[in-house]
Amino acid sequence: MEQTAKITPDSIRGAKARGERIAALTAYDYPTARLLDEAGVPLILVGDSVGMVVLGYPDTTQVTLAEMRHHVAAVARAKTRALVVADLPYHTYQTTGNAVANAHVLTEAGAEAIKLEGGVAVVPEIRALRQEGIAVMGHIGMLPQHVKEEGGYKVKGRSADEKERLLADALAVEEAGAFALVLELVEPELARDITARLAIPTIGIGSGTHCGGQILVTHDLVGAFPWFRPKFAVATADIASAIRTAAEGFVRQVRE
Ligand code: KIV
Repeated sequence: MEQTAKITPDSIRGAKARGERIAALTAYDYPTARLLDEAGVPLILVGDSVGMVVLGYPDTTQVTLAEMRHHVAAVARAKTRALVVADLPYHTYQTTGNAVANAHVLTEAGAEAIKLEGGVAVVPEIRALRQEGIAVMGHIGMLPQHVKEEGGYKVKGRSADEKERLLADALAVEEAGAFALVLELVEPELARDITARLAIPTIGIGSGTHCGGQILVTHDLVGAFPWFRPKFAVATADIASAIRTAAEGFVRQVRE
C-alpha cells in the first residue's frame, strides 16, 4: 500500500492479491485514532468493544447507536489515512431497512465502512448496504453481540457441523459484497482454510496466524484495561501502570 494514499475498502480488499497483511486496531477517540494513523495502521475499527473497555458495560450488547455515533465522530475528526470502519451495534440491523438507516447514521458521522456480525443470516442486510453504496466488513466465528446466547467467549469451528456452517457463512458474506471478513475465535486450521477459499482478506482475532491480517482491541495491545485481557492478546505496553504511577506521583506532589 502506498504510504501516503488514503486507504479505501478497495485497497483493503486488494491486500490479499498484493500479498500484504493487514494490521488493524480499534480506536474510540481522536488522539488514539491519530496515534494509530501516525503509526501506519491501515484500518481503524470503531468497535462496539467501546462498551467494555471505555464505557464500563459487561459486554457489547448494551452499546447504543447514539454511543457509536459519538465515538465514530471523534475518530473521524482525526482525518486519518487509515480506513475508518464502524460497528453497527446489537439490535440495529434486524431488518434491511433499519440496517440501512442506522448505517447511514454512522457514515454521516464519518465512518467509511460498516461492520456487522453474522454470516448467512445477515446476507440480506449486507446486500442492502452494498446497494446503498456502503462498504461492509463481515464478522463471523464468535459473535460478541450474542455472547449471552452462546454462554461465553468460546472457540468456534471445532465440530464438523460448525466447520461447515462457518465456511458457508464466509462464502456467503464474500458473495454478498463484503470487502474483508473478521474471523473471531475461529479454530486456527479452519481459519486457514477459510482464508485460502476467499478472495477477500480475512482479519483474525484469536484465530491463529494464517489469516490475511490481525485485529486487536487497542486497550488489550497497550495494557490499558488491566482487569481483563483475552488469552490470545499479548500486551506490548503497560499504559495502566504508567497512568497509576503518574497519578500516584501527582497525589504525592500535591500533598507535600
Ligand atoms: O468490537 C470490536 O472491537 C470488534 C473486534 C474485536 C473485531 O469487533
